[in-house]
Amino acid sequence: MKILFVCLGNICRSPTAEAVYRSRFSSEGLFLDSAGTGSWHIGKAPDARMLATLASHGIDASDLRARQFGAADFEQFDLIIAMDEQNRRDIEQLRPPGATTPVRCLLEFSGTHRGDVTDPYYEDEKGFELCFNQVVSGCEGLWEQLKR
Ligand code: 4NP
Repeated sequence: MKILFVCLGNICRSPTAEAVYRSRFSSEGLFLDSAGTGSWHIGKAPDARMLATLASHGIDASDLRARQFGAADFEQFDLIIAMDEQNRRDIEQLRPPGATTPVRCLLEFSGTHRGDVTDPYYEDEKGFELCFNQVVSGCEGLWEQLKR
């Protein structure tokens, strides 16, 4: 099973989802990656504030580097998980004819949070913590669903 997490910049929410899933819920035979619909941060490490929040929860994501989502990802992955509705629409715009890979929003899997994962980029520390908690709940629900 190959899962791709996607947000806008690939420096806050989707690397968090990738790192959280890998460190807490990963299982054998799973391949995880993340990407952004935008191109501004290609090649960059996750946002330092996001890394600090993750580190405070014992998760190291400093080796991740941003890349841009592309149409070829529909062929490479079995499941694409967007962080918000705008991401999901932007991803769908690139769907090649005949590609059947599902695109879902992360919080569809959460038992406690609804809607979009908060984009913390223009927020304070609380925004990063909220983002982390939303991502954890979504990843947990996703994991529950996949293990069935
Ligand atoms: P992300 O957050 O999509 O969760 O990585 C953002 C990062 C950068 C920007 C927007 C959102 N930006 O506008 O540069």
